[in-house]
Amino acid sequence: MSVGIMSAMDIEMELYLDRCEIQRSVQRAGLTVHEAAWGGHDLVLVKAGVGKVNAALCTQLLIDAFEATAVLCTGSAGALVPSLDIGDIVVGTDCVQHDLVVNFMGLPRGQVPFTHHRFFETDPMLRRYALEASLPEHNIVEGRILTGDRFVEDDRHRRQIQEDLHGHCVEMEGAAVGQVCTVNEVPYLVVRAISDRADGTSDIDFESFLQDAARSSSQIVLQMLDALSPGFASSATP
Ligand code: ADE
Repeated sequence: MSVGIMSAMDIEMELYLDRCEIQRSVQRAGLTVHEAAWGGHDLVLVKAGVGKVNAALCTQLLIDAFEATAVLCTGSAGALVPSLDIGDIVVGTDCVQHDLVVNFMGLPRGQVPFTHHRFFETDPMLRRYALEASLPEHNIVEGRILTGDRFVEDDRHRRQIQEDLHGHCVEMEGAAVGQVCTVNEVPYLVVRAISDRADGTSDIDFESFLQDAARSSSQIVLQMLDALSPGFASSATP
């Protein structure tokens, strides 16, 4: 029984590797998986890589090969609402794939064809603990996370996905983690720090604020784990 923590990029994972006690590192499916400890919790730490395929592959690996009984996905995101500032934290209430569109079937954006899946709800208990964490000078809010295999960096694209899905922020992995966790009945949570505004300035902001966003989101996750009693994952609500 362990808590899986995944990020898309090295810069995000390195902060966990620096702070947690690493016990063993192994190679699986092209990924380096670190078994670690933090505050009495057994953790499995992995940099999954960017995008939904990497995220899905990594999540299933965490569940099957490393017995993850909860999965946390952290890193940066682009803001979709004006009230969010760079550095603020979004704790996901649910995640949806903004780039999954099958018009001819008459399905709404994000609906997975031939299933009832569209919005993947995160675990309420994990959410509550994340919202109780604190970060000086930044807000921590809950909201919907939009996921897709395309970096959102222009107004037209942002408006198009927002019109249908009304998200708080956009990133590239959360809903893939959500779908895999949902079908495996494993609780999950996505915690994102805002690195840009998902508009024409995104490329510059993303480069400048990525490190800060990585630090902020990892701080929330580690605070959350400090507050949760070891073994919570065996009783978490799927
Ligand atoms: N991650 C951080 N910023 C992003 C953006 N604008 N689009 C998609 N993923 C992101």
